[in-house]
Amino acid sequence: MRTIDLIEKKKRGGELTADELTFLICGYTAGEIPDYQMSAFAMAVWFNSMTPAETAALTDAMAKSGDMVDLSRFGDLSVDKHSTGGVGDKTTLIVAPLAASLGCKVAKMSGRGLGHTGGTVDKLESIPGYRTVLSPEKFMAQVEKIGVAVIGQSGNLAPADKKLYALRDVTATVDCVPLIASSIMSKKLAAGSHSIVLDVKIGSGAFMKTKEDASRLAREMVDIGVACGRKITAVLTDMDIPLGHNIGNSLEVTEAMEVLRGGGPADLREVSLALASEMVSLTWQISPEEARRRAEAALADGSAFAKAKEWIAAQGGDTSVIEDPARFPAAPVAYEVKADCEGFIARMDTEAIGTAAMLLGAGRATKEDNIDPAAGIRLVKKTGDAVKKGDVLAVLYTADRAKIPGAEAKFASALTVTTDAPLTRALVEEIIRG
Ligand code: URA
Repeated sequence: MRTIDLIEKKKRGGELTADELTFLICGYTAGEIPDYQMSAFAMAVWFNSMTPAETAALTDAMAKSGDMVDLSRFGDLSVDKHSTGGVGDKTTLIVAPLAASLGCKVAKMSGRGLGHTGGTVDKLESIPGYRTVLSPEKFMAQVEKIGVAVIGQSGNLAPADKKLYALRDVTATVDCVPLIASSIMSKKLAAGSHSIVLDVKIGSGAFMKTKEDASRLAREMVDIGVACGRKITAVLTDMDIPLGHNIGNSLEVTEAMEVLRGGGPADLREVSLALASEMVSLTWQISPEEARRRAEAALADGSAFAKAKEWIAAQGGDTSVIEDPARFPAAPVAYEVKADCEGFIARMDTEAIGTAAMLLGAGRATKEDNIDPAAGIRLVKKTGDAVKKGDVLAVLYTADRAKIPGAEAKFASALTVTTDAPLTRALVEEIIRG
């Protein structure tokens, strides 16, 4: 087999076989196929797309390019959840212990934040003492014992995707649905769970800005999951408004714990219940309605919160901040952003709000940047709310007062205030079950 022939075939709209795609991925991972040939392949896919069989074969080859986590000891009970990323998205902190409190086995590997989106690992590291690195033995034993463990992604999970994603980033081939779907799903397959729930975000703070694009991506990922023998559901949820009120690491842990105690913002509770219900429904093969009843009961009777404390303690985290979030170290600067006119908040550019949080120290502009766990934004008003001149719109938190003017300007640029109240959007737009 010659790489050039495979590029030629894809360039002319042909369908590559599983063996041909495996040849490309193995050769690329081993350093035998150079970046320039893989770039040409990615661009040919960008123009000619891939058939469902090709996408599944590419995903399978990338998943098998490195470590494959073996969760077979948990039978059908292992379940994973993945979000395509957003602003204020702290649902993993809620659904992982919630699903575990209902008997699911959540052996989860999560990522760090970059740019305007946050990452679960950064949020967890804001809890003093929490360890995001565990040996494989400790990770498995914890899942066995308490039903949940959340750690950072192992360095050798889907290395082919790591290399190809970095290449796509500099060759204008990221925005290609089969390549995105195979990239995300290769990591999910390698992470080993029997059931997978995908939270595909839509809107100004999401990777996919329109419902059509999000639906297509979700459908392709569900098809890959089914083709590779997993139980899988995609939930399409709104990310045109930040989720909840808090953006930033310890601020988000605080808000997640409010939901786990049975309170918290209605939108965050609703999206978390939708995701947890699908996780429980897939795991126990029960209707989503019955799964939701169980999830609501676990929030109401304290078992989900108790499971969260057990999980955080098992990974070395200080549970006193979970019991009383006022014990989190506070940001030295808390600055109120006030409305300069009257009306309704008609729109929030959620990506710009995520960027404002990043400028305050809550996120990273580059992978090497450090995070300030206490930095971030608390939104006092959100889309649809009426505001009067002088009302507090948000509180900006940072360790460095010099960061306020830039972050405030970014935040202000994100808001559109009009005289009429905007139409509300559905929080859960669609559910695609495999
Ligand atoms: N996230 C991924 O993991 N891969 C992509 O290609 C795009 C977003």
